[in-house]
Formats: sequence, structure tokens, C-alpha cells
Amino acid sequence: MSLKNLPALNVVVVGGGMITAEVILPTLLQARKEGWIGDVTLASRRAKTIHELRKQFPDEKWDGLPDAKDPEHSDADCYKEAIRKLKGPAAVLVATPDHLHTPVILEALASGHDVIVQKPLCLKVSDAHEIARLARQKNLYVYTDYHKRHDKAVRAAKYKFSKGELGEMLCGHAWIEERREMPLKYFALWAAESSSFEYIGCHYVDAYHFITGLTPKRVAGFAQAKLLPKLGKKAKDAGQAIVEWEDGSVLYVQTSWVLPESNPNLTNQGLQLTGTEGEYRADHADRNSNFVTQSGGVQRYNPHFFKPYNDWDDPAKTSWVGYGGESILQPLEDIRKLHAAGPSARPAMLEQLEKTRPLPTQALIGTAVNEAFRLSVQNGSRFVRFDEKMFPILEA
Ligand SMILES: NC(=O)c1ccc[n+]([C@@H]2O[C@H](COP(=O)([O-])OP(=O)(O)OC[C@H]3O[C@@H](n4cnc5c(N)ncnc54)[C@H](O)[C@@H]3O)[C@@H](O)[C@H]2O)c1
Repeated sequence: MSLKNLPALNVVVVGGGMITAEVILPTLLQARKEGWIGDVTLASRRAKTIHELRKQFPDEKWDGLPDAKDPEHSDADCYKEAIRKLKGPAAVLVATPDHLHTPVILEALASGHDVIVQKPLCLKVSDAHEIARLARQKNLYVYTDYHKRHDKAVRAAKYKFSKGELGEMLCGHAWIEERREMPLKYFALWAAESSSFEYIGCHYVDAYHFITGLTPKRVAGFAQAKLLPKLGKKAKDAGQAIVEWEDGSVLYVQTSWVLPESNPNLTNQGLQLTGTEGEYRADHADRNSNFVTQSGGVQRYNPHFFKPYNDWDDPAKTSWVGYGGESILQPLEDIRKLHAAGPSARPAMLEQLEKTRPLPTQALIGTAVNEAFRLSVQNGSRFVRFDEKMFPILEA
């Protein structure tokens, strides 16, 4: 199948927040320079967001909605117009807050477009099934951007596990914790609608599923709210879950988003796994390549995530490289291949991709554990089981 003769992929990005500014737009604009991304439209809620992004990307051409001079102008539905006008071959990238993914995904699918959504796919198992049903009915692709799957430190664990070098899983411990600016500044408007567990803990629930192929059996969730209520916020400070998997192995996932402002990186994170034949232990934040500079202070630097480097051929130019971008490029490439192959080839190709990508069947795991976590926390940390469709059920 040749992608050479295929027109470039047009894209609509919905949501103009942190991940769009820091990863999605740089990735798309770089791919457009390489010639395989076409028109870029960004639909956010407020005109102010569009104005700020124009300042951040002054030399790039892209359409922004809402297209209003008044920065306070707000339109929560303008993504519908952007999707309606989108001409194929195309993709819709969803980067709205966690609790607002579903309506945008369904709108894109109803209009016949493939979708790339930031993790988690959604917050409810019923939503995940509705998304999967519509995607199947329309032969469309819905990829959840779980970028840790592209981190070589995680891929290495998957490889060793797949070769039997770790043996059978016994237990593990994941930690992912962010500085307090996340709920206080960046997510101030929606932090209480999600939680540190649902927002970032899901990365490691997905990573365990990705590495081992196992499905979770039951979950107990815990949460604490001590600092944020004192600062006038409804959100919780921290959340943890004990996840028991189908083989009896257990993963403890520790999350918080109130780390001190002086923490030398935004996100502390890592994973430890114990198997019958081996152990894995990795700090995914401190990669031993840190900086201290007069302008930037102490920076714990992860060169693997998504960082600027000198272009090989023109060192004056900046090239963005890393797993944060690769996990957007891979689905864009998949979508191009689906278009190149044509409609009749889609069902078989999608069936194959379901096995190796976080399409709805796999992304359902992160959503189900998120919903179970919330249910358990609301019920005194009682265990929550899953039925055969991954709907959570409170244990007696
Ligand atoms: N892949 C990753 O590792 C990663 C990293 C960070 C965030 N995320 C995820 O990406 C999503 C966005 O995160 P963020 O950090 O950019 O959050 P953010 O709060 O900075 O940005 C969200 C944006 O969506 C906009 N929005 C809200 N309602 C909208 C609507 N109806 N139509 C259009 N835009 C709307 C908001 O105005 C805001 O600009 C979340 O689901 C988050 O969990 C993923």
C-alpha cells in the first residue's frame, strides 16, 4: 500500500490547553513541514485560548475557533462546526478535559472521521462501549494516546516479559505524582471533575495491561483531601488504588498532584515489577541527564519524553523528538494507511489493529479501573469487581 499518492491528512484538534500547546501542535506542525499533514484547525472553548496559541506559534498557518476578537468570547460547541467542515482524508484529535472526551469523539465518529483522543478514553465504561459500538458500526479508528506505551523504558519491560525473562507476575508498584500547579493553575476549572488517579494514574494501569496483557479483576481506591480544600478547591490531593489482576498479581498505583512547587520536574513517576523470574525497577522521571542553569534553575530532565533537539541537517532549526510525539504520529500513520487501503479493507485492518493498539477494547481497561476507583472511594474503599463487560460492581 503506497502512502505517496495519498493527499495529506487534514486535522481538527479540539481543546487548546497544555497538551495541545506543548505536544500536539508542535508534532502536527512538524509533520506538516514533512508534507503529510494538510490543513490544521484548532477548536477550543474560549477565543482567548486561540489568541494565546497564535502568539506561541506566530509563523504557522492554522484556523482557530472561536474566531472572535473579544478574548472572553466562549463557544463550547464550535468544535461541531470544525468537524462538519473537515474534508477527508482527515483525523480528529480530542484534547478536552477528561470528562469532556465522549461528546467530541461521538460527534467525530458520527461525521465519519477517525479519532485520536488523549488518555483516558473517557471516564465511564458505558461511554467506552458506546464509542466502541459506533466506531465498529462505521468502521472507524479510535486511538487513545497512552504515550507511556512508547517510552522505551516501558517497551523494554514488555519485551522482557514477553520473552519470559520476568516469569509470571506477582506484584508491582507504580508512582506518578505532579506539582500542585496542576490542580491550582492549569486544571483549576476541572480538577474536581477528575482526580490525580483518573488523570495520570491511568497511565500505569494501562502500562501494566500493555506489558502483561492481563485484565483487572478488582480494585480498591483510596483518596485524601487535606491541602486543596484549605486552598478553596474541591479536588482531592491524592489517590491510590490496589488493582488485583486476573492471575492474582497485584499493582499498587500511587498518585498525587500537590508536590511542592520546588520539585525539580513536573511529574515524578516510575514503575517496579516483581515476577517469579525477575524484577524491573525504573525511575521514569530521573533519566540521569539533569540540568542546573541560571535561567531555568534545577531541572530534572527527561530527554525521552518530547524535547527540542538541533535538526541533523540544519542545526539552526529545532526538531521535536520523543515518545510524547511518537504516540500521536503512530495513530496518524495508521489513519493514513486506512485511507490508502480504502473502505473495503477497513474492517480487517481495524480487527488487526485492535490487537496491538489502544483502540477501544484495550483503552476500556483504563476507563474501567478509573470508574472502579471512583466508586470504591465513594464507598469507604470497598473492593469493586468487574462484570464480563468491565462494568464495575461494588463488592458486598
Ligand atoms: N497524553 C498525555 O500524557 C497527556 C498529558 C496531559 C494531558 N493529557 C490529557 O489531555 C486532555 C487535555 O489536557 P490538558 O492538559 O491540555 O488540559 P487543559 O485544561 O490545559 O486544556 C483543555 C482545553 O480544552 C478546552 N475545552 C473545554 N471544553 C471544550 C469544548 N467543549 N470544546 C473545545 N474545547 C474545550 C479548554 O478550554 C482547554 O483549552 C486531558 O484529557 C488530559 O488528561 C494527556
